[in-house]
Amino acid sequence: MTTLATSQFETIAELARERWGLNLTDRKQGLVANRLGSFLRKSPFADVAEYLEHLKRDADEEDMLVFFDLLSTNVTSFFRERQHFDYLEREFWTPLARGNITTPNRRIRIWSAACSTGPEAYSLAIHAFEHLPDLGSWDVKILATDLSNSAIETARAAVYPRKMVKDLDRALMNRYFLRGSGEQEDMVKVVEPVRELVTVRRLNLMDAWPFRGPFDVIFCRNVMIYFDKQTRTRLVGRLYDLLRPGGILAIGSAETLSGLDTPFRTMQPSVYVK
Ligand SMILES: C[S@@+](CC[C@H](N)C(=O)[O-])C[C@H]1O[C@@H](n2cnc3c(N)ncnc32)[C@H](O)[C@@H]1O
Repeated sequence: MTTLATSQFETIAELARERWGLNLTDRKQGLVANRLGSFLRKSPFADVAEYLEHLKRDADEEDMLVFFDLLSTNVTSFFRERQHFDYLEREFWTPLARGNITTPNRRIRIWSAACSTGPEAYSLAIHAFEHLPDLGSWDVKILATDLSNSAIETARAAVYPRKMVKDLDRALMNRYFLRGSGEQEDMVKVVEPVRELVTVRRLNLMDAWPFRGPFDVIFCRNVMIYFDKQTRTRLVGRLYDLLRPGGILAIGSAETLSGLDTPFRTMQPSVYVK
């Protein structure tokens, strides 16, 4: 078992906060020690001290992203937190389809911020197919971003273990996923028309964002939970600026904006409107 001295954990926490906004509280020390241990056993580094020295002195961006992967959690699923999709169906897709709300030039822009391996973004795309009749006459684009290299790679490939879609409605499964065969028998792939709506990019939420919006909808779910209050406040302010008036923000159901200084209006728990 790898032991992690408190001073080493503090060095790691400092790095993680500075670069990625992660708030590694003392409770995470055991988890970080375990993950570092598994990594170090397969690495050329003799111990934690040597690895930390490398990170401080000569690590490049890719090395730092390997380190980020050790600290972050990529848990996600298709149509996770169904209430957000129900809200979108009721308050976004249906009013759009009926002409009760409009967007300039029928442009619809959605951002899955911290998309992990992609199911959130593909769920949004599938939702558009399901709830916006005549989708081809709309200009729909979904941006999916995450910092993790490995997550982004999976999001781009759009290939998932079949068990990830086992609870989906059978009709959805048949319409939007291809079943693998041979060695890929236990895998499914998102169909091309759905993939075409989604653009996957690597992005650190703490950095400058190379796009201006405005977005109609932003899903930024289950990532703020890793940030401290100051970082969350700043992030929420930036998300607000990027939404069009009336635009929708969904955050994770275990997260809240209450206590943050923000002009967002609360529509239901974890759903906000600009
Ligand atoms: C638990 S997953 C959430 C995935 C998805 N939004 C959902 O709710 O199912 C959290 C994601 O946040 C990403 N993340 C953490 N810090 C980040 C940062 N500073 N910039 C971009 N992504 C970050 C992680 O790589 C991870 O994929």
